[in-house]
Amino acid sequence: MKEAIKIGLLGSGTVGSGVVRVLRENMEEITARVGTRLVLAKVLVRDAKKPRPYLDGIELTTRVEDILEDEEISVVVEVMGGIHPAKEYMLRAMEAGKSVVTANKDVVAEFGHELFDMAEAHGVDFRFEASVGGGIPIILPLKQCLTANRISEVLGIVNGTTNYMLTKMSDEGMSYDAVLKEAQEKGYAEANPSADVDGLDAARKAAILASIAFNMRINLADVSVEGITKITPEDIAYAKNLGYVVKLLAIGKETEDGANVRVHPVFLPKEHPLASVNGVYNAIFVRGNAIGEAMFYGPGAGSLPTASAVVADIIDVSRDIVHHAFGRVNCTCYREKHLCPLEKTRSSYYVRLLVEDKPGVLGAIATAFGNADVSLQSVIQTQRDAEEHAEIVAITHTVPHANILAALGVLKALPVVSEVRNLIRVETDQIDRG
Ligand code: NAP
Ligand code: HSE
Repeated sequence: MKEAIKIGLLGSGTVGSGVVRVLRENMEEITARVGTRLVLAKVLVRDAKKPRPYLDGIELTTRVEDILEDEEISVVVEVMGGIHPAKEYMLRAMEAGKSVVTANKDVVAEFGHELFDMAEAHGVDFRFEASVGGGIPIILPLKQCLTANRISEVLGIVNGTTNYMLTKMSDEGMSYDAVLKEAQEKGYAEANPSADVDGLDAARKAAILASIAFNMRINLADVSVEGITKITPEDIAYAKNLGYVVKLLAIGKETEDGANVRVHPVFLPKEHPLASVNGVYNAIFVRGNAIGEAMFYGPGAGSLPTASAVVADIIDVSRDIVHHAFGRVNCTCYREKHLCPLEKTRSSYYVRLLVEDKPGVLGAIATAFGNADVSLQSVIQTQRDAEEHAEIVAITHTVPHANILAALGVLKALPVVSEVRNLIRVETDQIDRG
């Protein structure tokens, strides 16, 4: 048995510094759990002169080769972020026979196949628990604990920034712009908030979750994405009145037409387990044919919570080194990719229209929906405003996406419809409460 397992850390920012802290604080227990000592041997930094007291006693380097070519290092932990050179460093580490742990959803969602193939070719482990849901255990639970199931659905609140914003808009009636400013001041949203508010961050996590849930290599490019920028306090108020909350969901569903993977805001029934996940918290709801429903909840980001997941991966990989058992849970995608085209996906919809308030308008609108084979579940009309306009809010029954698009095309062309103000999917699946 190895006397010690040596680790090389690439990056020491928010997550990297948390990894160092967890390893140091919990080393006694970690050693007992692995059966051998783990040693953080070297840390790659950009600026070796920058004061980093938490790294005292650990060798710093600005040359990645010092880690990748060190034969004594058997685990490389990538917490630099970004695609290049993180991807190349991980590939080189595996090529050199080292197992790799990463928190990097950007690389996993776009280039996971390259990394898995490299891990396979070189008989090493590749782990990425922290890439979805920060500290929440979800990747290994799907790959291991729920592997007896056929998973039909995975729904996630996987972006804390947008969940914080939607929670504030709902609780305090704040506008989108005001809540974005507050999220930026609190450090949740970046100066350029696009990755969060346009849904790209959630889309990367959706691709990773769906790949694992459905055992298919689903990439970022396979995910249809819509963010929260069009959500208004009016939509949120209608949702509340109708018994829903508005959430940005990462959705993976198995259908007869293949897997569909999407990120978009939804009207979620108030009684759905995900509806009460508020603020920056994340949660992933899974439906399997043996377990039924399960939900994983916790902090989706932050130095120590994310380090909790990264260090768990380091421990598991180290156990594999001790037991010579590599690749147990590397790539689990054994199925050919089969995706359901967006037009064929089915949902109920909330449609908010600004219309002229005069006789025959409701009839014209109902006819437009009917001609596109869209059946209506309920319709509300608000009081007319000073310009003799009123809002009509329709909730449809479950219909193919193609039908709702056809209905919108006709509605937009109707002279009495001044504006289609929003279109949001309504999550209607029944929740089994036993
Ligand atoms: P961060 O605070 O920006 O830290 C990244 C660190 O990597 C910085 O210290 C940076 O050095 C270093 N770095 C970047 N490029 C480098 C290079 N080419 N050579 C050497 N060092 C380099 O980022 P983070 O928040 O820790 O995120 C790291 C990863 O974890 C990302 O993939 C992120 O998506 C993922 N993640 C983060 C969270 C979270 O809560 N923060 C949660 C889940 C997953 P400088 O200090 O010199 O810039
Ligand atoms: N920007 C992400 C969020 C955290 O707001 O949840 C990192 O994945």
